[in-house]
Amino acid sequence: MIRVRFLGADGRVAAETEAAPGTRLLALAQQLGLPLEGTCEGAMACSTCHVIVAPADFPKLGPLSVHEEDMLDFTPHVTPTSRLSCQVVLDEAVGMLEVRLPPAHADMRGI
Ligand code: FES
Repeated sequence: MIRVRFLGADGRVAAETEAAPGTRLLALAQQLGLPLEGTCEGAMACSTCHVIVAPADFPKLGPLSVHEEDMLDFTPHVTPTSRLSCQVVLDEAVGMLEVRLPPAHADMRGI
């Protein structure tokens, strides 16, 4: 099992849970009722699934695709450890993961 802690934009713990390998981070956040819309359902077209990964945990998630990097270039509140949670599939090697929600999301599709 993988342990995942979600922090709100204020840095306080919003949720903490366990996840099975193969779980998509966006789906986990949505199951917990966290405000990640995921409007494009993983098509990498909206960035409403943006999360900021704890710096110590960021390398555990592997490299970003060029398309994900391109989307993040236009995402508000992006940081060097930002990810699109729709592109993060958890595996056992992650162990423990902490991510923070950004202060705001914007739908990059402009709708
Ligand atoms: Fe739209 Fe992730 S759900 S970019």
